[in-house]
Amino acid sequence: MQNGIYLRNGPGLWHIDDYNFRHLFDGYAMMVKLQFENGRLVAGHRQIESEAYKAAMKNRRLCYREFSEVPKPGNFLSYVGELASLFSGASLTDNSNTGVVGLGDGRVVCLTETQKGSIMINPVTLETIGKFEYSDSLGGLIHSAHPIVTDSEFLTLLPDLINPGYLVVRMEPGSNERKVIGRVNCRGGPAPGWVHSFPVTENYIIVPEMPLRYCAQNLLRAEPTPLYKFQWHPESKAYLHVMCKTSGKIVTSVEVPLFVTFHFINAYEERDEDGRVVAVIADCCEHNADTTILDKLRLQNLRSYSGSHDVLPDARVGRFTIPLDGSPYGKLEAALDPDEHGRGMDMCSINPAVLGKKYRYAYACGARRPCNFPNTLTKIDLEKKIANNWHEEGAIPSEPYFVARPGATKEDDGVVISMISQKNGEGYALLLDASTFEEIARAKFPYGLPYGLHGCWVPKNHNKP
Ligand SMILES: [Fe+2]
Repeated sequence: MQNGIYLRNGPGLWHIDDYNFRHLFDGYAMMVKLQFENGRLVAGHRQIESEAYKAAMKNRRLCYREFSEVPKPGNFLSYVGELASLFSGASLTDNSNTGVVGLGDGRVVCLTETQKGSIMINPVTLETIGKFEYSDSLGGLIHSAHPIVTDSEFLTLLPDLINPGYLVVRMEPGSNERKVIGRVNCRGGPAPGWVHSFPVTENYIIVPEMPLRYCAQNLLRAEPTPLYKFQWHPESKAYLHVMCKTSGKIVTSVEVPLFVTFHFINAYEERDEDGRVVAVIADCCEHNADTTILDKLRLQNLRSYSGSHDVLPDARVGRFTIPLDGSPYGKLEAALDPDEHGRGMDMCSINPAVLGKKYRYAYACGARRPCNFPNTLTKIDLEKKIANNWHEEGAIPSEPYFVARPGATKEDDGVVISMISQKNGEGYALLLDASTFEEIARAKFPYGLPYGLHGCWVPKNHNKP
């Protein structure tokens, strides 16, 4: 294993004294590192010191709005001051518990749905350095929790809740200033669709407009609603917009079947014999246009599972085909038989070398049923339309993260890293050979760690901040 650090972010603390949070996504962010150094592994973990976390620890109560948790008015006002209203963006959390990215300039930033939850950490000590402040004046409260980050750019979407649409923005390494590439106006309403993630091809940025839409009222409501900060609007239909990366012009915008996805896997351009781009293919972990997965992730549902019945809703690799000949409709179908991966599909990664290009392999969490949560690591072969599944009785693996072998030329030449939570509360780091999908090594943790969400790889020689 090459030298470097695998970082994984995720919710890690779901209570303040005897006050218990309700949803998996409410937890205060905890960073885990697996530091590979000359064949040895050093692991560590640490809470990310967001304002929301520090305020909760100091006051021993909830002070900001988490995913499903709302503070009592007095808690928030006493902490933030009388000028801020509980029903304003100031009350939104900066609990950066979703993902972590290494920018091209070496800075490591933790992210979540709110822009204010962009927090820099030291990847070795895991110390919180401070807020990542965007120096532009683009404003807004939220952004995509999954920007596209390469050594040369950071691309993300800023939903416009007032005038429904999205700003597509780019930030260069060394800069804190996002510059607008273009704008997409929503075709449906009343608000933009939730953009937890989005895909890109070599030349295009694909902006999804999902019928699961943001709801400004729910964002600032006193009590959680069934779909939290979102609303399901099937009547508003679903669309995919394709924007040219260089000009910011919309190349096409198609209506597609209703869908629900949090994670796009990848996208690429399909060419004819003459090399002309005829379509864009975009793949995602698709929940059969069903939003119930959000409710299934309530802690009570996760913790009360007996193991005997099957409650995880079905999911598939949803493959969109977006024609570029001006046709008004795009297609959505399963890229392979969902039974190949037990009809569970989420938490995906690819070899970063094939980002935006025609690709063959994806790594994700699938299902061995009956289950209430994705419980396998799955390697998807999109060419042969088969899946190779790793499973251990009672274990819950986190996102399988692909790291290429230095000098590799084959797409699946590398390792897949995951952290496994075992039935007895213990856990270990697991390395699979990405090519054979067989175990290379496991390292037991001295104590169990909570389930986490998304990770990134920081190579040893990565540019120092
Ligand atoms: Fe995510």
